[in-house]
Amino acid sequence: MTTLDDLWEGDMESFQVGDREILLVHLEGGDVIATQAICPHQQIELVEGELKNGELMCKAHLWRFDLKTCTGINPGHARLARYPVKLDGDSVYVDPEGDTPKIAHS
Ligand code: FES
Repeated sequence: MTTLDDLWEGDMESFQVGDREILLVHLEGGDVIATQAICPHQQIELVEGELKNGELMCKAHLWRFDLKTCTGINPGHARLARYPVKLDGDSVYVDPEGDTPKIAHS
């Protein structure tokens, strides 16, 4: 899908994999997280949000997510999809069938 050379720590990028839009995040500290590219709240690209200390904040209504657990910080009921990631050397592989995008209202 990509390599760690192209996705530095603290970076995120979205990819189309089959019919899924996936957001790949390289957290500071080294973890690589694959989640849904679209906010569970409304149709906003999460890649345009702000990434800080493992938290992702959507730019639209400032929902915040803990990327290590793919759960909402505010609101706490929100969830993000979490797709399995495999690292092979520098290469990053994601299984787009490993989860489904989550949707949450209000
Ligand atoms: S669309 Fe992301 S918080 Fe509303």
